[in-house]
Amino acid sequence: MARFTNPSLDKLRDAVDIVDLINGYTDLRRAGSQYTGLCPFHEERTPSFSVNPTEKLYYCFGCQEGGDAIGFVQKAESLDFAQTIEWLADRYGVELEYEELDPKEAERQKQRERLYELLERATKFYERTLAESDEAGPAREYLKDRGFSPEVLAKFRVGYSPKAWDKLFVPALRQGFTEQELLAAGLAQRNDRGQIYDRFRGRVMFPLSDPRGRVRGFGARAMRDGDRPKYLNSADGPVYQKGRQLFGANHARSVAAKRGRVIAVEGYADVLALHDAGIEESVAVMGTAMTDEQVVELARLASRIYLALDADRAGRQAMIRAARVADRHGIELLVVDLPAGKDPADLIAEGGAEAFEDRVRKALTVVEFEIAQTLAAADLDSARGRDAAIAELQPIFELIPIGAVKDEQIRLVADKLKVSENALAGLRNVRVKHDRQAAGNAIVPGAAIPESEKSERLFFASCLSSRAVGPEYLEKLTNDLLSTPLMRELRDHLQKNFEKPLAGAASLKPELRDAVTEVAMLSERENASPKAIQLGFLQLEKAGLERALAGSAASDKAKIELKRQEVIKQLGELTAEFA
Ligand code: UTP
Ligand code: MN
Repeated sequence: MARFTNPSLDKLRDAVDIVDLINGYTDLRRAGSQYTGLCPFHEERTPSFSVNPTEKLYYCFGCQEGGDAIGFVQKAESLDFAQTIEWLADRYGVELEYEELDPKEAERQKQRERLYELLERATKFYERTLAESDEAGPAREYLKDRGFSPEVLAKFRVGYSPKAWDKLFVPALRQGFTEQELLAAGLAQRNDRGQIYDRFRGRVMFPLSDPRGRVRGFGARAMRDGDRPKYLNSADGPVYQKGRQLFGANHARSVAAKRGRVIAVEGYADVLALHDAGIEESVAVMGTAMTDEQVVELARLASRIYLALDADRAGRQAMIRAARVADRHGIELLVVDLPAGKDPADLIAEGGAEAFEDRVRKALTVVEFEIAQTLAAADLDSARGRDAAIAELQPIFELIPIGAVKDEQIRLVADKLKVSENALAGLRNVRVKHDRQAAGNAIVPGAAIPESEKSERLFFASCLSSRAVGPEYLEKLTNDLLSTPLMRELRDHLQKNFEKPLAGAASLKPELRDAVTEVAMLSERENASPKAIQLGFLQLEKAGLERALAGSAASDKAKIELKRQEVIKQLGELTAEFA
């Protein structure tokens, strides 16, 4: 994302004091011209982490992590490139210059900044109201009864919205904000007569912050049990969209990176209770079935994801989808089995952090969890019921490669269903399906990705990571450069939704949605240079020509081969530049 001018990036690199920066994560000691300390990225007892203050680089001999200050912050804070630059610029007082945006985009950006400003003022107003107003007495009482500490309430900037209809919007108008802005920020709405009024009234306010800590919206809890909805959320608008974010990610980030795990729960209250209990790597999906965007976000926070969510039907399907995507990226997805009718906040209220950690320790893989759920629901008393359970398990077993794990699961099922392992031969030998046969089932087995598609998917990811040249290369990707119809559909989708590839992904067919999610996820970890993208493009061209060569008439072969040689030459030249 070439959003910053090169001189301003250079200025930032100069301004950063890498020793000071990294000292915030691990204690560094001088050792000659270098500094050493315990690696912040892996557990160790003797220091193998070193920082070179003149080159402004770090390296760990233990885990082989290394790079510059930007890479360090990207990793330690789980931020993307642009977020990292802004984070460092804030900290070292560097004024960034942005590449000329086109005027329309610049205008949109300015408008969004105004909305952030308005939301920030609203947050402060609600915080103040909770702390000071008489009518917030019951809210203060309620929060205290729930056992939330003053610290956690302050950290999450919890507030209270007064009952009246105009306490927020009237002062905002006086401060120069417009009705349109109040509506766009999701803070006000219009009545039948076209007059605006405050959307949130008489509720406990939970601000929803983005990874940079800017408030984008609110979840507002009713005070009385009968009030509906229990939580009123901000209306979708330019800065807040349902399902696009994780509550608490801004506070969970660094702890999650350090501990290598993130815990996803359902609700606001759960996150507060977990943070209070010292389990600060916790975020909430906010009641929806987890969206693809949230999976991507979770994967950015840590490589081990614990889901402590309601295991209702929609929840289980989202989980399986997430598992499939995670699997391909070496991300571990584990399911925390919660006692029926209890959420993590309940567990902690009853038994403290230990009660919750206990469950976390017993977390199951998605496959194990699915098997357990199926067995628990099975009618074990009749042979017919047991056969039905076996049939239901079929698609789950397709997810497990043949090996010791599969054997163990087969023995478990045989034991539970009181059948011989012979009766389960069908489960043992199912092959992972490579077609759409199972698309109608609850579980679609992760079809193997053809080799050719792998490099195409990676190329899409690098395009997405570059605003500067990505769109141009997507345009250049003609059908003959893509090996499957799915990849062509993927290109069309990414062209139309370059800025927000996951927007509307939920309604795509499963293979396409998975591909979009995967590519979006990969792109978050990339920051491809134009050269690297050019290289990727040439490689696809070469592969495309080789496919053409294989399928062409003898008379055309010479011409295609000539083109191929030309591409190989270009590849050689470009690679030489890299070296
Ligand atoms: P829960 O009803 O489990 O809420 O919904 P909770 O957070 O445990 O609430 P408490 O403990 O009664 O305070 C889980 C999450 O689903 C979303 C919220 O994000 C909530 O935290 N939700 C729930 C809504 O958005 N709207 C609703 O009406 C209910
Ligand atoms: Mn609850």
